[in-house]
Amino acid sequence: MTNLEGKVALITGASSGIGAATARKLAKAGIIVGIAARRLDRLTGLKNEIEADGGTAMVLEMDVADARSVNSGVTSLIEKHRTIDILFNNAGLMPLSDIDAFNTDEWHQMVDVNIKGVLNTTAAVLPHMIGQKSGHVFNTSSIAGRKVFKGLTVYCATKHAITAFSDGLRMEMGKKHNIRVTCIQPGAVATELYEHISDPAVRQQMEDLRKEMTFLEGDDIAGTVLYALQAPGHVDLAEMFIMPTRQDW
Ligand SMILES: NC(=O)c1ccc[n+]([C@@H]2O[C@H](COP(=O)([O-])OP(=O)(O)OC[C@H]3O[C@@H](n4cnc5c(N)ncnc54)[C@H](OP(=O)(O)O)[C@@H]3O)[C@@H](O)[C@H]2O)c1
Repeated sequence: MTNLEGKVALITGASSGIGAATARKLAKAGIIVGIAARRLDRLTGLKNEIEADGGTAMVLEMDVADARSVNSGVTSLIEKHRTIDILFNNAGLMPLSDIDAFNTDEWHQMVDVNIKGVLNTTAAVLPHMIGQKSGHVFNTSSIAGRKVFKGLTVYCATKHAITAFSDGLRMEMGKKHNIRVTCIQPGAVATELYEHISDPAVRQQMEDLRKEMTFLEGDDIAGTVLYALQAPGHVDLAEMFIMPTRQDW
C-alpha cells in the first residue's frame, strides 16, 4: 500500500459535498490538505474541524474559473508545504434546464467552472508534479460524463469533456512523467449540487429522485479516492464509476 503520511493534496470545491468529505478523509489518512473554494467561512469551519481531529489543512480562497486566482492559491500551498502530490479537480456546478429555455449564462458558467476550471488547476499544478516525477490527479466527471440525459445536455457535455480529458491526460502523463490520473464518475450523491438549479420544476424533478433511492454520501466518494491513492504505484485506477445500488438508470 502506498504511504500517504505527509503528502500534500489540493482539493477544489472543498467547501461542501464531495470535496469537503474528501478533505476530511484524506486528512485523517495523514495527508496535508489545501482546501480551495470561494466560500471562506465554510473552508474555515472545515479547517477547524480537521485540525481539531489532528489533521492539517490550509484554506485557499480560489475561483477555479479565474486562472490568476488558481495560480495564487497553488503558489501559496507550495510555498507553505513545499509541493503538491495530489490534485483533486472537483469543483463543479449543475444549473440544469432545457436547451430551449436558453439560459446561456448558465451554459457558460458550467463551461467556465466544470471544464476551464479543471484546465486552470491542472495547468498550475502539473509542472510541479512533472518536476518531481510523481503525482496523482483526480478529476470529478459523472455518470453524465458517460451517458447523455435530456435536460442535462450542457452539463453532460462538460462532464464528457472531463472524461475525455482524463483519459488523454492519463496516456500523456503515466509513462512519461510517472503521474497517475483517475476519473471519478459518481451517480447521485447527496450534496448541495441541486441547489444551483434555477428552474423550480427541474429542481423538483431532481429532488424527487431522493424518494426513489438512497443517494450516495460525499464520504462514499471520498472512500474511492482514498482507495485509488492507496493502490501500489504501478496501479492506476483510471476510471471509477460509483453508483447508488438502487439507481437503475
Ligand atoms: N452530487 C452529485 O450527484 C454528483 C454526481 C456526479 C458528479 N458530481 C460532481 O461532483 C463535484 C462536486 O459537487 P458536489 O456534488 O459535492 O456539489 P456541491 O456540494 O454543490 O459542491 C460544489 C463545490 O464546487 C465549488 N465551486 C463551484 N464553483 C466554483 C468556482 N468558480 N471556484 C471554485 N469552487 C467552485 C463550490 O464551492 P464555492 O461555492 O464555495 O466556491 C463547492 O465546494 C462537481 O464537479 C459535480 O459536478 C456530483
